[in-house]
Amino acid sequence: MTRRAVPIGIGHYLPDRIVPNSHFEALVDTSDEWIRTRSGIERRHFAADGQLTSDLATRAARAALENAGISAGDLDGIIVATSTPDLTFPSVGTIVQAELGMTRGFAFDVQAVCAGFIYALCTANAMIVSGQADRLLVIGAETFSRIMDWTDRSTCVLFGDGAGALILEAQEGAGTAQDRGILSTDLNSDGRYREMLYVDGGVSSTGTAGKLRMQGNPLFRQAVEKLSQTAETALQRTGLTSADVDWIVPHQANIRIIQGTAKKLNVPMEHVIQTVQDHGNTSAASIPLAMSVGVADGRIKRGNLILSEAIGGGLAWGAVALRW
Ligand code: UT7
Repeated sequence: MTRRAVPIGIGHYLPDRIVPNSHFEALVDTSDEWIRTRSGIERRHFAADGQLTSDLATRAARAALENAGISAGDLDGIIVATSTPDLTFPSVGTIVQAELGMTRGFAFDVQAVCAGFIYALCTANAMIVSGQADRLLVIGAETFSRIMDWTDRSTCVLFGDGAGALILEAQEGAGTAQDRGILSTDLNSDGRYREMLYVDGGVSSTGTAGKLRMQGNPLFRQAVEKLSQTAETALQRTGLTSADVDWIVPHQANIRIIQGTAKKLNVPMEHVIQTVQDHGNTSAASIPLAMSVGVADGRIKRGNLILSEAIGGGLAWGAVALRW
């Protein structure tokens, strides 16, 4: 028998304010047509003034707890993937812990930008498989609208706010690729590429939060190559093939990256969950948001094989294969 980290509940939260592409036509020299054709984005949600990353994370967490039919007291820990925390410290995790009324266990944040949810899933999986925890809440939550330069058309049209949450529980599996739960993981980073996507401020440099800066086109070319490699590695580690993949649930940065990666993996687009058109790029929140949407609308079913991949600032990238 093998200890597996098995999904038992999922949920998400998107702020009420929906911003269509046309909003940006008045801000910068852009068009709805350019944004749609280059990125696939049609609209995104922005948090309200005073609405914090921890607020979005807590709403998503409550939805996941309800979906799992458990309470916060049943959790051993919370891991939040975010690059847009409420404060420099404490972690968003501990704020969510208090909001949920959870007085035991642990909470912390993981920061791997758009790959953050993959990194958090790998961390949770390692803790569960090693016996350190039995039930973990893994959240991706971001308010990227707060680090946008509204005069930079090459970035401000691309990002959105939101949160998704997944609950993983230790269960015994047979040790085969037919087990439910996380079957394999693959993590990578290469700091030589850090200038491709970064925020130009921080505690020990400028003392400010800074604004997002991105070399979109070079990053685009890195993304398709690295995402298909990491997804292929995770898949190979399960012993399964692309024909066994029921759903790719990718990071949602750009529809052309999603299409290019699916093509390289030989998985038809009918087997890819796409939310980029409605959410934009929500960084660490994009995978749990897409997974939650796919589960809620009935596409992702118990027993389905899911392959998730993400890349972002660092560069940091990785993939997880899991059976729902
Ligand atoms: O989540 C983390 C990972 N993020 C990513 O993986 C994002 C990767 N990059 C991308 O998604 C794409 O590179 C973008 C959507 C950012 C840009 O698409 P692109 O096809 O790579 O366009 P480009 O950067 O090569 O720019 C093409 C043209 C340029 O004009 P010139 O130099 O050809 O005259 C840009 O100045 O489009 C211009 N442009 C815009 N035009 C209208 C850039 N942004 C805009 C805009 N509206 N918003």
